[in-house]
Amino acid sequence: MTIPTGTDTSQNYANCVSLPPHGSSPSPHRDTRAVTSGRGSHRALTADLSPSTTWSSEGLDDTHRQAVAGRRSKMYSRYTNPTVRLFEEAVADLEGAEDALAFGSGMGALATVVYALCSPGDHIVAQQQLYGGSLAFLAGPVQRMGISVTFVDATEPGAFTRAATTPRTMLVIAETPANPSLALADLDEVGSIGAPFTVVDSTFATPMCQQPLRHGVNISLHSATKGIGGHNDALLGVIAAESDLIDAIWAYSVLHGAAASPYDAHNALRGIRTLGVRQERQCASSLALAEWCAQSGRFSAAHHHGLASHPQHALAARQMSMFGSMLAVELEGGEDACRRFIDALELVRPATSLGGPETLVCHPASSTHFGLDPETLSNSAAAPGLLRLSVGLEHITDLIDDISRALDKSAT
Ligand SMILES: Cc1ncc(COP(=O)(O)O)c(C=O)c1O
Repeated sequence: MTIPTGTDTSQNYANCVSLPPHGSSPSPHRDTRAVTSGRGSHRALTADLSPSTTWSSEGLDDTHRQAVAGRRSKMYSRYTNPTVRLFEEAVADLEGAEDALAFGSGMGALATVVYALCSPGDHIVAQQQLYGGSLAFLAGPVQRMGISVTFVDATEPGAFTRAATTPRTMLVIAETPANPSLALADLDEVGSIGAPFTVVDSTFATPMCQQPLRHGVNISLHSATKGIGGHNDALLGVIAAESDLIDAIWAYSVLHGAAASPYDAHNALRGIRTLGVRQERQCASSLALAEWCAQSGRFSAAHHHGLASHPQHALAARQMSMFGSMLAVELEGGEDACRRFIDALELVRPATSLGGPETLVCHPASSTHFGLDPETLSNSAAAPGLLRLSVGLEHITDLIDDISRALDKSAT
């Protein structure tokens, strides 16, 4: 893999260290590793919170040593922070990656990756079914910087490969399962593209349900604000990849400045400890709810790749160990029907985030995907009658009761 040379901060990353080994005999089970990873070497059971932005030095020579020590420096939190580093170590472990790098948000992660790896004149191939913020970024600011973007339908086999053939194609960006349609990209196809860089936004899956790097993908990206943090109290992004690629992106990231907060990293580390059980429960409830929605005959469509009837079910079964905590349903009657249904819900709350303990409902066309041009919006599959549900930790019977009651009430 060739690392772009546009960002000449080699003095900073030449001395970067890889992550320390995280135990002499790591468990093969991810739910165990969620408990054991990112602990550092001390005996406290909770990660130390290091809120300091700045560390003093012994004098000019020591400051210079820190300035050229890359991620090993203990100088300034935009370069590295001990609490953030533990969070990165935990995510790298869960993703089966050599290293990870955290950011102040998922969008911070995406923007940093794009601008670290691409230059004016380069070309990006991106999935047309993406989170609305990612679409807006790729359709607007990225192209303003002279980087062209071709959007492809991820559900069409071979679409990424066919579009990624120009000499200036630098990056392929997929998101699977996609927000909000739950469309899947084939990880084996994306991983086989020598683009030269491939990125998969794996937010909906969390590392518990799929690991893109195992399929040959270069970078696994998450909004850790969602399932990884899992409690709606941490705004974070994170990428996992090989060390040399992380080092190169880190060298740019210190200039871009979307650094992660140690407070958020601390909260997310606590979230990671329960990621295994949370995901197990949320994935099971999401599938049960999708089955109920599909059988109820009350929705015009229920989208969940765990359903045997889903056109991409075989692909989901091949590349995911669990199907995730998200589902999407469609109501005849478009936005008005969605508004009436949301207003009638009592337990399920309207909110735009996902992956936390509370079951949330979101109308993407008027919120997360609002403001996109009509064609981009339509290609993203955020239809006016589509609702996205993030299934939480409540009892499944209570969720079904609430949804059933809301359907009755909103129909009258
Ligand atoms: C799939 C996906 N990727 C990225 C993001 C952006 O993450 P953040 O809100 O942490 O910037 C989101 C936000 O909803 C998302 O759903």
